Amino acid sequence: MILVTGGAGFIGGNFVLDWLAAGGEALVNLDALTYAGNPETLATLAGDARHVFVHGDICDRPLLDRLLATHRPRAIVHFAAESHVDRSIHGPGEFIRTNIEGTFTLLEAARAYWNTLDAAARRAFRFHHVSTDEVYGSLRADEAPFCEEHPYQPNSPYSASKAASDHLARAWFHTYGLPVLATHCSNNYGPFHFPEKLIPLTIVNALAGRTLPVYGDGLNVRDWLYVGDHCRAIRDVLAQGRPGETYNIGGGNEMTNIDIVRAVCALLDELRPDPAGSRERLIAFVADRPGHDRRYAIDARKIGRELGWRPRETFESGLRKTVRWYLDHPEWVANVQSGAYRGWIDKHYGGAGT
Ligand code: NAD
Ligand code: DAU
Repeated sequence: MILVTGGAGFIGGNFVLDWLAAGGEALVNLDALTYAGNPETLATLAGDARHVFVHGDICDRPLLDRLLATHRPRAIVHFAAESHVDRSIHGPGEFIRTNIEGTFTLLEAARAYWNTLDAAARRAFRFHHVSTDEVYGSLRADEAPFCEEHPYQPNSPYSASKAASDHLARAWFHTYGLPVLATHCSNNYGPFHFPEKLIPLTIVNALAGRTLPVYGDGLNVRDWLYVGDHCRAIRDVLAQGRPGETYNIGGGNEMTNIDIVRAVCALLDELRPDPAGSRERLIAFVADRPGHDRRYAIDARKIGRELGWRPRETFESGLRKTVRWYLDHPEWVANVQSGAYRGWIDKHYGGAGT
């Protein structure tokens, strides 16, 4: 048994689905079902006894203690977070609570539980902290990609809160010996991505004939990775990673935002032509994000060298899969946009989970 936090979100949801599809052991999925948590993502697992969903908060220590004592996981994979930079600018409080206090609470609960295990189980236990490349700050055009030793220079409330949580995880390894693994991944894209982030927002807006907002000059650069490749990297690190180590994960796909938006438009124009003309007509340059990081890029050589991980999807194949998925799942999109999935929560979990 493993415990996953945030497994109703974008990456956590993909991880849970991939883990069980790959024949992984049963898991407890603890998620507070914030606006970003969507149980419809997990609908195909209905009736699968290997998936135990718990509607709850990582800041709730008694709940964490109860779950750990009852299910006795061999590992925790910690995705739960507030994840959207723009939201962190409008309201940083929730980012401090979930990302810092939540991670602290989870680390403390994990440590207490880990101390009850016998020597062999203590050695085998893993706490996998899922982090981001944004903690390293912004790169100039001529700078080398982020390696694991790159100094921390977080620039947004989101990345500062993730950086703080990274420091806590590191300290729990060094001070208490808790077997912590940490991964820093670049921008993910793929199925079940909430349409507030650039790629899903562009897809759903373009399909609806709405404006495609591009911040500033559109030349900020991100390194894009298909979510399935990230999930596989986490499985590899969990299985073979060395406690106390961090691993950077990236796709080697540096692209400007405007090129991303144009690539999405081109695919939609091909797969679902619009009689009104190319979707590029919908692109609008809008006010920039305050403190907008210019460039992220990941040096993923360590995980390649030590664990043999490499991305399987190219940006072209991954984006095509993603666009097709959104075209094939209009109900998921409509329910997310209307908020109807929130009614689904009450219907399926009675407001309290299982
Ligand atoms: P997301 O916003 O889609 O999902 C977050 C999930 O956490 C949601 O299901 C939400 O309900 C849950 N959650 C939030 N607060 C909670 C709390 N207090 N208790 C329990 N559950 C709570 O995020 P995501 O994009 O899937 O990101 C997952 C993790 O990966 C985050 O830690 C993020 O920092 C990291 N990450 C994301 C990316 C990316 O490109 N999206 C890249 C690198 C790292
Ligand atoms: O790098 C990893 C990070 O990637 C994760 O840690 C975050 O959780 C995840 O949200 C993502 O952060 P970004 O801020 O890079 O992602 P976002 O999709 O919000 O924006 C991508 C780029 O597109 C960024 O330069 C801002 C720009 N953008 C975004 C939106 C939503 C636009 O130009 N227009 C938009 O409407």
